[in-house]
Amino acid sequence: MKFLEALMNRRSIRDLTNKIGISDEDLIDIFKFNLKHTPSAFNSQSPKLLLLLDKEHHKFWDILKEELKKIVPKENFGKTDKKINGFRNGYGTVLFFDDSSITEDLIDKFPLYRENLLTWTEQHNGMLQANVWTSLAEHDIGASLQHYSEVVVHRLAEAFSVPKTCRLIAQMPFGGIVTEVGPKTFIDIDKRIIVMK
Ligand SMILES: Cc1cc2nc3c(=O)[nH]c(=O)nc-3n(C[C@H](O)[C@H](O)[C@H](O)COP(=O)(O)O)c2cc1C
Repeated sequence: MKFLEALMNRRSIRDLTNKIGISDEDLIDIFKFNLKHTPSAFNSQSPKLLLLLDKEHHKFWDILKEELKKIVPKENFGKTDKKINGFRNGYGTVLFFDDSSITEDLIDKFPLYRENLLTWTEQHNGMLQANVWTSLAEHDIGASLQHYSEVVVHRLAEAFSVPKTCRLIAQMPFGGIVTEVGPKTFIDIDKRIIVMK
């Protein structure tokens, strides 16, 4: 039941605090465990993580703000700033990458699978994202999934020494939960599954 409960309790928490109830060692173990045990197509293990804590976490969101300032109209920036502060106020951020050198090697080996491998790469990264998100929820750590890759990608090599072969897919800021989010609406579940026997 523990897994199903965590699955149900995982929500998008966008207003974060910098207080969580576990040590950095335990936190790092959660990420390592998820990386190790989440499946990947051909067992390629191409997903990679960059875990940003403390000043590195703040640096990421400050860089993103700088970049957003260049593209968001001045009159809307207050709203954007508030939203980004919700993430920046958190405990840390994990960046999800695909190591494209691994994926490209596989494509070279199995050229007929090229399109599938590109799709599966997104899928197994998504599986990792979901597993990490649920694992954090299991420890009462709030998180959300963000997609600002295009806006910040050109700053990562200099700011965080990210290798060129690592392609940024998603960002997950996490931390303490300020306010629980409201209930979700659900489509009738029986309209989404057919059971045959
Ligand atoms: C593949 C995927 C992409 C998402 N991208 C974003 C995003 O870029 N920004 C964001 O704030 N939420 C994003 N979300 C969160 C969804 O909007 C959210 O999961 C959904 O509304 C259900 O709410 P819940 O997470 O509280 O259960 C994404 C979720 C998924 C699964």
